[in-house]
Amino acid sequence: MAVSKKKTVFFCKECGNESAKWMGQCPACHAWNSFVEQELKSAPAGSPRMKQPGQVPKPTSISELSLSEEDRVSSGIAELDRVLGGGVVPGSMILVGGDPGIGKSTLLLQACREMAAKGQKLIYISGEESLKQIRMRADRLGTFTGDLKLLCETDLNVIGDILRSERPDIVIIDSIQTMYNEEVSGTPGSVSQVRESTAVLLQLSKSLGISIFIVGHVTKEGTVAGPRILEHMVDTVLYFEGDRHASYRVLRGVKNRFGSTNEIGVFEMFEGGLREVSNPSEYLLSGRPENASGTVTACSIEGTRPILLEIQALVCQTGFGIPRRQSSGADLNRINLLIAVLEKRLGLKLGMCDAYVNIAGGMRIVEPALDLAIAMAVVSSFMNIAVNDRLLAFGEVGLSGEVRGVSQSEQRIREAAKLGYKECVLPRVSAARIGEIKGIRLYPVDSVRDAIALIKK
Ligand code: TYD
Ligand code: MG
Repeated sequence: MAVSKKKTVFFCKECGNESAKWMGQCPACHAWNSFVEQELKSAPAGSPRMKQPGQVPKPTSISELSLSEEDRVSSGIAELDRVLGGGVVPGSMILVGGDPGIGKSTLLLQACREMAAKGQKLIYISGEESLKQIRMRADRLGTFTGDLKLLCETDLNVIGDILRSERPDIVIIDSIQTMYNEEVSGTPGSVSQVRESTAVLLQLSKSLGISIFIVGHVTKEGTVAGPRILEHMVDTVLYFEGDRHASYRVLRGVKNRFGSTNEIGVFEMFEGGLREVSNPSEYLLSGRPENASGTVTACSIEGTRPILLEIQALVCQTGFGIPRRQSSGADLNRINLLIAVLEKRLGLKLGMCDAYVNIAGGMRIVEPALDLAIAMAVVSSFMNIAVNDRLLAFGEVGLSGEVRGVSQSEQRIREAAKLGYKECVLPRVSAARIGEIKGIRLYPVDSVRDAIALIKK
């Protein structure tokens, strides 16, 4: 008689690294004694990948498959739809990550309210808050209509049973770190629990055709597994970021199997929940000082949308031996490089100066198109000459001080023209590709030197 042997696999509790055999030290994260054994389960019956006996799957021709935009369900929040690529795809899994307290529960409850009003059947499952607490939040958001049910539950077996009997269209799991699967070892929030819970939810989502939003807290602490380990399992990954002390929030698409990534949605938190900011440029430029040195407007393309930003720089004499360079919002390495270019190519004595660069509003942008505006802001502060506050600058700066072309120049200029900007400094190659734009004067430049000359003018 054959003895059936349990198949097991080992994985690291710290980083989730998998191995067929036990190891003393994890080769990926170098943690000692972190490998734990876990039983390998066969796929449950009814899994979409399971072959039915006697049935041979037939490949389908790609041209026979039809897709329509109507397949998507609008979340009722335009900024969220934009990041999702047009709405929620039925049967998809969406991870919404972010720091605790940033507003993930608020955003999803608001989306639930809109979707329920449109006739969708929803269940909001919370493992973090009591029904009363959710109700209190809901009261701040306004009136709720339609089929939205609340459930406080953390046991995935129970959740599975409820989903199979209720058959909702959309489910919210708040949060994955509180969910518990009793067949798996570890406390809720551990790597094994988070991974297995997601696998169970994935299975439920695909077999029942339910769209599931999963909330995941981003934590630096090792014991609670952050959402990074489940990014590859879900269809869409959105991160909700922003300064908790400022009121604006940015929802950023990091992965999307059904749309473009890099789209952002901008929100503002107020006492009645999250408000959409449909014109972020105007919002980010509000409160800009007039006639101040060290501030230049730049334009970044986020997904399909141009966003105007205020770049601020403060350059002052170093008090101690080593100059301080600090950045908030922009890439510090890039700033050091730009300062080196200004020093070497323009002969500016920045070597003995502290430099602080800030993107006002707390946005984080790494696009090289901001280079020219950063360089101009640094020089404007260094020379203490204000740049025209109706001037836009964009372009990538190379190591020889040349200004290189960037994509979608026309879109950037049109956004600035819409907000009443009068002048634009841009790379010559980009200027050659665009025609005249009403109300805005173009200054094509070849190098940073040309751009700086415009400040002195
Ligand atoms: P929450 O959605 O609970 O955050 P998360 O689920 O990401 O942990 O939001 C928490 C913060 O939002 C909290 O500090 C209070 C604030 N908030 C408002 O300012 N206005 C509101 O209407 C609501 C509901 C929350
Ligand atoms: Mg929450």
